[in-house]
Amino acid sequence: MSNIEILPDVEQLSRAATDKFVELAQQAIQERGIFSVALSGGSTPKKLYELLAQEPYRSQIEWAKVHFFFGDERNVPPEHQDSNFRMTNEAMFSKIAELPPENIHRVPAEQPAADAANVYERDLRDFFQNELPRFDLVLLGLGTDGHTASLFPDSPALEENVRWFVENWVEKFGAYRLTLTFPVINNARFILFLIVGADKADILRQIQNPESAEIKYPAQLVNPTDGKLLWMFDEAAGAKISVG
Ligand code: 6PG
Repeated sequence: MSNIEILPDVEQLSRAATDKFVELAQQAIQERGIFSVALSGGSTPKKLYELLAQEPYRSQIEWAKVHFFFGDERNVPPEHQDSNFRMTNEAMFSKIAELPPENIHRVPAEQPAADAANVYERDLRDFFQNELPRFDLVLLGLGTDGHTASLFPDSPALEENVRWFVENWVEKFGAYRLTLTFPVINNARFILFLIVGADKADILRQIQNPESAEIKYPAQLVNPTDGKLLWMFDEAAGAKISVG
């Protein structure tokens, strides 16, 4: 059983996640002068992003020392309704004047998928000085099919262990997604899953209380090599797991 925290609802989960973000940011900045984060997309983290832009959290973070990357992105322009950048910019970036624009590492997802992935990997290589990226924090969500980031079941990127950021063909969408690969995700200092809602109860049970040791879902491949993993979910998402 991984390290888990169960919160009553999305509001309290988001506040707990914000507290954890602030704690990790202050620790990283104190120890290394910088805090690097790979953000998750979808709908779950929106409240967290909104809280970070508000007091009492906002003034607890030295924003000039925070660098935001994206764990994954849809292959759409930044103004597109499906863009994770658009969601995050509306919820957080646009509200924090203290955050230098150059600290926001947007995936150039308006480009053809392979070009966008290659450009972003170069950004990662520049920032991490050609060393395998070791994010201070990687935020992840969980899909009802067991995907995380844009690492979907039966998709090519599950096997990628050389490239850091790739275009990943997702058959069920008939489209490319753009995503960090497991070598980068699992090299993080801290990985935080945020999971909310009754629709995630079945998949979460299968992951937290698997009937067999067989790895069936991409999210089960998240396992930090030298870092911490915390699963935060609300009671609705955790309704079917036994906390033993
Ligand atoms: C994305 C995400 C993805 C997300 C899950 C859960 O780009 O959609 O990064 O991995 O975290 O699909 O999405 P919800 O938070 O909307 O349930």
